[in-house]
Amino acid sequence: MELLTQIKNNAISLQKRIVLPEGSEIRTLKATEIILKEKLARIILLGNAEQIAEIVSREGIDITGAEIVDPKKSERRDAYADMMVEIRKSKGLTKEEALKLLNDPLYYGPIMIKAGDADGEVSGAINATGDVLRPAFQFVKTLPGVSVVSGVFLMVFKDKTLGDNGLLVFADCAVMPVPDEKQLAEIAITTAKTAKAIAGIEPRVAMLSFSTKGSAQHELVDKVAEATQIAQELAPELLIDGEMQLDAALVPEVGRLKAPDSKVAGRANVLVFPGLESGNIGYKLVQRLAGAEAIGPVLQGMAAPINDLSRGCSVSDIVSMVAITANQAQV
Ligand code: ACO
Repeated sequence: MELLTQIKNNAISLQKRIVLPEGSEIRTLKATEIILKEKLARIILLGNAEQIAEIVSREGIDITGAEIVDPKKSERRDAYADMMVEIRKSKGLTKEEALKLLNDPLYYGPIMIKAGDADGEVSGAINATGDVLRPAFQFVKTLPGVSVVSGVFLMVFKDKTLGDNGLLVFADCAVMPVPDEKQLAEIAITTAKTAKAIAGIEPRVAMLSFSTKGSAQHELVDKVAEATQIAQELAPELLIDGEMQLDAALVPEVGRLKAPDSKVAGRANVLVFPGLESGNIGYKLVQRLAGAEAIGPVLQGMAAPINDLSRGCSVSDIVSMVAITANQAQV
């Protein structure tokens, strides 16, 4: 079965509560209609109820069944503000400041999740990545044992001989501009877990570089080699190897030649890039030149699932991301 179909079927069985902070945005409302019709999740739209009603009636969109919460009028504001002050007390956040932040749906959404009133969030159709992520970093924070949030793409190829039945998992393509050794190791481990949980594959993780097993000497190579060692020590049960070049990771003959003892080389299905420049450029190259479908970024490492859309996203991108977020909420 196609990966997205599997993800959607699983979402239907989970019935998670997903908050959409951009509640008066037209693609978001159209996606809500589809999500509710297909029963992929329960939807909470943030925004002014009259304004949303006016848009859906003008556009002929049916959002029957969606809950609408106005962050400026909600009766939960006071309790949420107290919670925010408690979470950010070391940063000196006052109740007045917290109440002001709650007017912003991009803060209200993560706080709903933190309070247990929603299971996940999808946002970013009209907001920049940093503005979506910052409230999540500040209030939802990372999973225990994880210090860094990162972004994964599920790369789906028409050619089923590539990766695992046409699927490769790439990270980090979305968040951390320059990870250090420890952060890179964490990204590798978290990505292996995401690959297993969301894509259902047994991860074989390649730590990418422009060198394979010491073929080049440079501090950037040392960083990836050190990250590989840290990841192997932190998660000895996982297949993680590097540093290695992309061809050594993916092509069996090259892998055998350049890294003959490696259990990953030549058969990697998870690619960890050394930094955001290579990760972001890399996934777009594969998407644009190899015609792969790029599903993501799926953000990982957060204590609850919060996903960021591209501002160029389509209605069906939002629907898919809600289904993925519901799957993550289960994990
Ligand atoms: N994981 C967890 N927490 C983080 C992370 C992270 N990766 N990065 C920052 N934080 C935390 C900080 O510790 C800090 O917490 P604190 O306030 O409790 O001390 C808080 O978030 C804010 O940190 P800043 O460094 O001030 O965050 P800033 O807003 O400057 O940067 C951001 C964070 C926005 C994610 C930045 O790293 C960024 O812009 N990354 C690139 C995003 C991007 O543009 N991606 C490409 C587009 S996406 C695409 O093409 C698919």
